[in-house]
Amino acid sequence: MAKITYIEHNGTRHEVEVSNGMTVMEGARDNNIPGIEADCGGACACSTCHVYVDPIWVDKLPAKEDMEEDMLDFAWQPDPERSRLTCQLRVTDALDGLVVQMPEKQI
Ligand code: FES
Repeated sequence: MAKITYIEHNGTRHEVEVSNGMTVMEGARDNNIPGIEADCGGACACSTCHVYVDPIWVDKLPAKEDMEEDMLDFAWQPDPERSRLTCQLRVTDALDGLVVQMPEKQI
């Protein structure tokens, strides 16, 4: 279980508990948090689950696979350091306290 804070582009914060084994995308979807669309349902085939990870978390997360790296090229204003696809981030206790920020829009 991890407490994850999702911050909408307008600054609205959502702090929720997400079970281990789920993805950060599923945590947003199941809690009706706007700003993560996840059009492909988590198949790493769209980039509409893009977020900016809080800078202190960048090095604590598992490294990106090539597929995630490639799909991020299609995201809205990706940041080389902070951008991640939330469907590729699986929740464990190690993610407790994670903070992510949604982009202005998803494309
Ligand atoms: S939900 Fe489509 S890439 Fe993450």
